[in-house]
Amino acid sequence: MTNARTRLARRVQHHDRHIITRMMDIASGLPDVISLGRGDPDLDTPAHIVRAGQEALAAGATHYTHPMGMPELRQAIADDIARHGGARYAPGEIVVTPGGQQAMFIIALGLLDPGDEMLLACPGYNPYLQAAELTEAKLVEIRTSLDTNFTLTADMVRAHVTPRSKILVLINPANPTGSVIPPAELERICAVAVEHDLIVVSDEIYARLTYGDARVQPVAALPGMRERTITLSGVSKAYAMTGWRVGYFAGPADFMPALAEIHHALAISTSAVGQHAALAALTGPQECVEEIRRTFDERRRVLCDGLVAMGIPYAEPEGAFYVYAKVAETGVPATEFCERLLAEGRVMTFPGTIYGDYTDDFARISLTQSVPRIREALERMQGVVEAIRREHASA
Ligand SMILES: Cc1ncc(COP(=O)(O)O)c(C=O)c1O
Repeated sequence: MTNARTRLARRVQHHDRHIITRMMDIASGLPDVISLGRGDPDLDTPAHIVRAGQEALAAGATHYTHPMGMPELRQAIADDIARHGGARYAPGEIVVTPGGQQAMFIIALGLLDPGDEMLLACPGYNPYLQAAELTEAKLVEIRTSLDTNFTLTADMVRAHVTPRSKILVLINPANPTGSVIPPAELERICAVAVEHDLIVVSDEIYARLTYGDARVQPVAALPGMRERTITLSGVSKAYAMTGWRVGYFAGPADFMPALAEIHHALAISTSAVGQHAALAALTGPQECVEEIRRTFDERRRVLCDGLVAMGIPYAEPEGAFYVYAKVAETGVPATEFCERLLAEGRVMTFPGTIYGDYTDDFARISLTQSVPRIREALERMQGVVEAIRREHASA
């Protein structure tokens, strides 16, 4: 038996433990760690949604469902998309998946041949990088920067298009940067997609969570876009339902049979109880979404004020629930900063390198804990920042 390195498929390029796993291991040996790492908020799923899940279980929702998802849930998703200014979809144009996460891989498996190019703003949500890697597609990173609050522009996209370009991924609001593409710029980006016949994967999972004047224009509703757009979303973020594992993708009817079959082969169907809870989320009272949004808005202000006080620049979070902070300003690279912040301050954050950042300057700080815990995290961070600055002053 030879070792894994010689046995793993060539397409698997990352053989080492992921830095997230390493940090989780460090954290498990420490007391009272404040986790501002994973994008999994402390918030409970609203009670009426939990109840719907419990009732569904009691009523026997313990079987596979239709492979594409329960018809009534797909109808509710179609209505929800339309209610928020998106395109009109028929239930047959929607596939319910175990989280939006799986949808990324279904889309990549279904649409990318080896060598096809997938364009993604960089830094960007890392599973898209893995989806390109595992399908042997070429990931084309479009570098965005703090100077422009990490906003993707049509000119940037155009500069990266080649004859092999096939998919343009738009994550709006963006993870890890929290930036939102202004609607007028999004229209220009879509015009580039039409001009170069690109398929757009529009990840709108954070679309309900925007702050200030920012708002998300659903891509598929723009002229000429419905036929070339696959919209990806889910209930995890807007309804505090990360553990229920329900997401979906919606796209033109002619793409769906093939993509649905890939999903069928991977998962058979999404969990029935999760789908019943998602149905309750989308068809029940919607005030909970605004409450969740307001909660993140308040946390975002507290965290940003704390960063200002420490002299750490950051991208203004216009959406999602992350603050992308230029922690290298303290004097050490972000990966070192995050490891020290965890080991010495017992605060977990993730370095931007995880998200394919081309610098080692940034950390993603998730707004996944209460305001008192965020204040406590800021105090601990202050201690670590001061220690780093003292070391640099005396060096
Ligand atoms: C941009 C983005 N898209 C999709 C997902 C997938 O979420 P889920 O699989 O819980 O639907 C996430 C999760 O963090 C995300 O950040």
